[in-house]
Amino acid sequence: MKVFFIFFLIFNTCFADFITPDVVETVIGKYMKNELLSSAEQKLQEDVFEILKRTQHVTTHEYRSDVRMSLDCLVCRSAFSALFELIRAGASDDDLIRPLSNICVLLGIESYNVCSGAISLNLNIITYIIRNTPEATPRNFCGLVLQRSDNPNFCSYNDSRFEWQVELPQRIQSANIPTPVIDQSPLTVAILTDAHIDPLYEAFGVAQCDEPTCCRKGQNLRPSSEIVTDGSEVENSVIRHGDNVLLNLGDVPKIKEIRMRNSMKAQTRYVEPAGYWGDYRNCDTPRWAFDDLIERMASTHKFDVVYYIGDTIDHGIWETSYELIDEIHQYLISKMRTTFGEDVLIIPAIGNHESQPTNQFAPMSVTEPKLNTTWLYEGLIKKWDPYLTEEAKASLRVRGGFSRLVRPGLRAISINTNVAYKYNWWLVYDPLEMKRHLEWLVQELHRAELAGEKVHILSHIPPGVHDLAHVWTREYNRIVNRFSSTIAAEFNGHIHSDEFKIFYSSVEPKLPINVAWGVGGATAYTNYNLNYKIATFNPPTYAPQSIKTFIYNLTEANLTPNRRPHWFQLYDMKNSFGVKDLSAQSMDDLLQRMVTTERNLLDLYVAYVPKLSDTRWPYCNNNCKLDNVCRIVTTVLWQREKCDELQFLYSNTNT
Ligand SMILES: *[C@@H]1O[C@H](CO)[C@@H](O)[C@H](O)[C@H]1NC(C)=O
Ligand SMILES: *[C@@H]1O[C@H](CO)[C@@H](O)[C@H](O)[C@H]1NC(C)=O
Ligand SMILES: *[C@@H]1O[C@H](CO)[C@@H](O)[C@H](O)[C@H]1NC(C)=O
Repeated sequence: MKVFFIFFLIFNTCFADFITPDVVETVIGKYMKNELLSSAEQKLQEDVFEILKRTQHVTTHEYRSDVRMSLDCLVCRSAFSALFELIRAGASDDDLIRPLSNICVLLGIESYNVCSGAISLNLNIITYIIRNTPEATPRNFCGLVLQRSDNPNFCSYNDSRFEWQVELPQRIQSANIPTPVIDQSPLTVAILTDAHIDPLYEAFGVAQCDEPTCCRKGQNLRPSSEIVTDGSEVENSVIRHGDNVLLNLGDVPKIKEIRMRNSMKAQTRYVEPAGYWGDYRNCDTPRWAFDDLIERMASTHKFDVVYYIGDTIDHGIWETSYELIDEIHQYLISKMRTTFGEDVLIIPAIGNHESQPTNQFAPMSVTEPKLNTTWLYEGLIKKWDPYLTEEAKASLRVRGGFSRLVRPGLRAISINTNVAYKYNWWLVYDPLEMKRHLEWLVQELHRAELAGEKVHILSHIPPGVHDLAHVWTREYNRIVNRFSSTIAAEFNGHIHSDEFKIFYSSVEPKLPINVAWGVGGATAYTNYNLNYKIATFNPPTYAPQSIKTFIYNLTEANLTPNRRPHWFQLYDMKNSFGVKDLSAQSMDDLLQRMVTTERNLLDLYVAYVPKLSDTRWPYCNNNCKLDNVCRIVTTVLWQREKCDELQFLYSNTNT
């Protein structure tokens, strides 16, 4: 196949109509360098951009055709190559904002306002990394950002710095572990995540806007033409082989014509305004909906501790500011403290939206203004002060993660998964920062093990997802394997859907050893109902005894804006699914039943994943169900054996 492709490439490039990645790179480079072009070059540039152009903004539609992804890889590498060249030629950051923003708009990625906003916020970090990292290449930037869960070779980066292992201490005899003096009373924990409070939320405002996040003051309605084409007209003009593509310019006139017809159909028709209590479309949480949630939790339940799993800030990533971030972080913690009372311990974790700009978490060694992340950690230490020990503060200051006793016998470890997040550019600068974070985690777990403590891990991004660097997911899995008898539970946020994951031992027979519980989210972004959970634990194991999920129906709540939402218990993990306990073994049993004899439980599960959201749950077909099954058992990126096994079982069971 490869030989054929090379032949094909050489053969076809003899004809002017087929364009290779090198030519695309040159075209994009010339555009960004603003070079004067001959009329033939101008025509070529126009045609190439016609194929590369998106019909839909990145954030307004979720279509992920393989063609689109290959084009994204090509565009990303070409733009980064041009950027590298311009920087080497001495361009300053100010020189670069305009050409990058222009190309972002030209390719239909977002509007000028969004493109230039996001680029201005991120550019100084990217150029700093390019200038100071000999190993930085267009390939490793793009390979991380475009990483996919279904294909390890797609747009891949090949950087040996991402190959490392953490050292694990020898297992110890359980007889040698002391039994600490423990509090015998049961523990109740309220768990919530992803508040995404939007201070700009406007009730009855524009919920279908021309920016990535809507329902914000001052936005414009998006014309509804985009729905007419799914971009398939482009598919025939792209010839793919792996992540290499050739563009066939022969079809450009046809593509132009289809797009012209579509744009003529573009019109602004009536669109339902934004709901008062939140909105299923691309909207975050109004302040009053967050307040309602916190007040409702306090008035309905009694709990000893709160786990907050991160992401306080809204999705307006092109216009975040230090001031607003600071204000909202303060608002969230003050609201919880005043409503829950000072005797309720709150243990937070840091989400990717906490930082400025969004997703950027620099290693401790980076101290420059506008680059360092110390400002964030210092700021949170002040705001979270009542909940942190001196030791926790010292740890938070250098890594954004900390560990503290919840009570004798139970330790919470709040880890900072953002250091391994694929959108964090600093990964390219220093891929060993994530290793240092995991080494610290190992050290904390070992210390807990030696003291006979149980541990709850709070981690914003769930294990095994393609949002995380592959090496992190693999090493984290090793750590869970080694410390599975110390880790009593894990809680995750980030995805806004309500899911759980099962870890299996890495040696045969691959038994279920641990569960990571997704918490869901207190935002409707996008197409979800808001939720929180109440979990109970018993000493000395501190394994969850019960986990209950509470929601309201957003459609219904918005029918009566001046009445507070009607919160209710959606389900109780143990009773609703008929499991005898919430151990990894029992959850694995449940999973086996879901794919074989008790398909109704799988239906129930996939209805609860979006928390019965009216715009999601009725639409989960068989593929969607199987995706959900696979997500449960994927704790290492690209490791699909367990998933394949369950899919096989599903298709070979008669029901
Ligand atoms: C990755 O890079 C190494 C060293 O530069 C090279 O030996 C290896 O063949 C490359 N692998 C791939 C898949 O390109
Ligand atoms: C970090 O960045 C902030 C914000 O730009 C700046 O105020 C501060 O001086 C920088 N240095 C440290 C050590 O926080
Ligand atoms: C939510 O409320 C709306 C309006 O009352 C109703 O049509 C819809 O069926 C409800 N959804 C669920 C899942 O009950």
